[in-house]
Amino acid sequence: MRLIRAKNYDDMSLKAANIIAAQVSLNPKSVLGLATGSTPIGTYRHLVEWYQKGELDFGKAVSINLDEYCGLSGDHPQSYRRFMQENLFDHINIPADRSFLPDGTQTDSALECARYDRIIEEHNGIDLQLLGIGRNGHIGFNEPDDHFTCGCHVVNLTESTIQANRRFFDSEASVPRQAVSLGVGSILASRCILLLATGEDKAQAIHDTVCGDITSRTPASILKTHPNVILLLDRAAAGML
Ligand code: F6R
Repeated sequence: MRLIRAKNYDDMSLKAANIIAAQVSLNPKSVLGLATGSTPIGTYRHLVEWYQKGELDFGKAVSINLDEYCGLSGDHPQSYRRFMQENLFDHINIPADRSFLPDGTQTDSALECARYDRIIEEHNGIDLQLLGIGRNGHIGFNEPDDHFTCGCHVVNLTESTIQANRRFFDSEASVPRQAVSLGVGSILASRCILLLATGEDKAQAIHDTVCGDITSRTPASILKTHPNVILLLDRAAAGML
């Protein structure tokens, strides 16, 4: 694992955007694995700004997001599709038919997961996978469990994740309890992985990922088996290393 230390959130966001921009500049047809959540918002802001200045072109790129809440349609204000539209896709030129997220409204979840895994396969895998990390060490929505799940699957969100995501919803009752997530196998099959972490509340998960055993109880710890992982951490997230 390569560790890059950033001074703070803004510095982390700028460095992350530079890595993604380099990827797209070197290979305009890049397949980008993208994440939602608070962490990448600053990164997406830089990418939008550089696109709008004419410095970046996403016209040939493909994006494949990590996850979507079950039961939320793409136009629901809290859906990850809506998040991606508002924070990135509506402001850059990535073609609408090449920016993929799981369909959270699909009732046959096995069919939807198989469809999503096929999308990754058809695009010959992910070139650069952007990840955040949960306080409990989750990546995508691969929650701590007694095993790793390889392919796309439906996850029961843990109480800690429901509480962490509560801030985006009107009430706790309206936080979805399930999500469709890329599996750990698909994440590990990415050619390069860029994990971002910011803030003190991620310090324990980063410590366990870097210094602890490889265990499905800390899902991010499996990243140690991948040959090309960058951990880009601000000072607070790196505080226990
Ligand atoms: C989001 C995702 C999650 C988040 C993680 C951190 O697509 O897959 O793993 O990256 O929950 O969320 P934030 O950035 O809100 O702390």
